[in-house]
Amino acid sequence: MGRTILVTGASGAIGPHLLTELLRHEDNHEIFVLMRPGWGMATRTQVLRCTVQALATDGHPQRLGVAERLHLMAADIRRDHLGLQDGDRERLQRHVDVVIHAAANTRFGAPVDELSDVNVEGTRRVLELAQECAQLRQFLLVSTACVAGKRTDTVCEQLEEGAGDFINPYEQTKWEAERLTAASALPVRIARLSTCIGGERTGYVHRFGAIHQSIRWLTRGLVPMIPAIDGSRVDLIATDVAARWLARAAACPVTDLDVCHVAAGPQAIPIRELIATTVAHLRATVSGWADGQIEAPVIVDTATFELFERSVAQSGNALFGRVLESARSFFPALLYPKVYDTTRAEALWGGPLPLSDWRSTLGKVIDFGIARDWRTYRGARERAHV
Ligand SMILES: NC(=O)c1ccc[n+]([C@@H]2O[C@H](COP(=O)([O-])OP(=O)(O)OC[C@H]3O[C@@H](n4cnc5c(N)ncnc54)[C@H](OP(=O)(O)O)[C@@H]3O)[C@@H](O)[C@H]2O)c1
Repeated sequence: MGRTILVTGASGAIGPHLLTELLRHEDNHEIFVLMRPGWGMATRTQVLRCTVQALATDGHPQRLGVAERLHLMAADIRRDHLGLQDGDRERLQRHVDVVIHAAANTRFGAPVDELSDVNVEGTRRVLELAQECAQLRQFLLVSTACVAGKRTDTVCEQLEEGAGDFINPYEQTKWEAERLTAASALPVRIARLSTCIGGERTGYVHRFGAIHQSIRWLTRGLVPMIPAIDGSRVDLIATDVAARWLARAAACPVTDLDVCHVAAGPQAIPIRELIATTVAHLRATVSGWADGQIEAPVIVDTATFELFERSVAQSGNALFGRVLESARSFFPALLYPKVYDTTRAEALWGGPLPLSDWRSTLGKVIDFGIARDWRTYRGARERAHV
């Protein structure tokens, strides 16, 4: 049976990969995308369409019917009724079978009220729309493995009863969004993604995130130390692998609440190995690293890192201040080692998750980031190159 899917957050880091994977499935007849209105909407729409088509052309050339099947609507999840025009809302209510809610404020350091307005109240508003969709079969919430916060050891694929300790308010608001979604009377699936690093084969990153900023500064030799403890691991997945899983999940019926970790799980990368691989790649490809002028970062304990933070603050060095700001987004999680159970995600997939060779993907992402100077598309004239 064919499907009509509503997607929020399609213009973000994961969105274009997700749309490409959804469009690859012929059963997904139509896809409606909610895009924030405002400056450059026409250009952003064009970039999104081009990117989706270009992603599809890489690897398995395929005609997706982007023009006929992908429909964009202006909406802002911070506004009542999502700010949708009446006609658009009615169209969605009549036709949508699956909602994939991926829109979020993903700035870990944003003020809590801003995060809450988008991640919690925004989810509430999207849920309201989903309740009005007469034939809804699934509400798929794109969440984050980070909702585990400061917990350590094995994290199960289940809703947590109580709020744990969180590293930042982003995690807390995503946890609240999960609770809200689970409490709705809808058929709900929650996909908790781990960090999506970029395209498996191309290294393509549509929007750079916290991990990319840390790699950026490391590449420039501005990260002399990283705070971590024994057992610290980084759980990375290729963005298109996550998107493929989400597209499959959208097609799988859900009866009861289903919570899945789309993550590397036991194959998460020990921090020392991640640093060694990154440094080896830089030494092989980047001058300054190649001739040994830049030293590899060392792993230190929290007290040493705090000392470093204080000395940077005292120096008033603006560049190092920015480096530390990025570090505060990504590094603290290293102090709470954990392994995400992926049993349910694998059951849905029908076997082990199709994880990419992380060394190869990481190298491609670094090359891509350096080529773009770690800048996300902003300019009106830039074309989407994948
Ligand atoms: N990327 C990762 O590694 C990762 C890992 C775990 C979980 N996740 C989850 O996956 C989802 C997508 O993440 P992402 O990395 O693609 O995020 P992102 O790059 O920050 O993009 C966020 C998306 O949400 C949209 N959005 C934000 N505020 C909105 C509003 N008020 N109204 C409508 N749309 C709004 C953005 O639209 P604009 O283009 O207008 O800004 C953009 O499309 C999020 O729920 C995130 O929590 C991501």
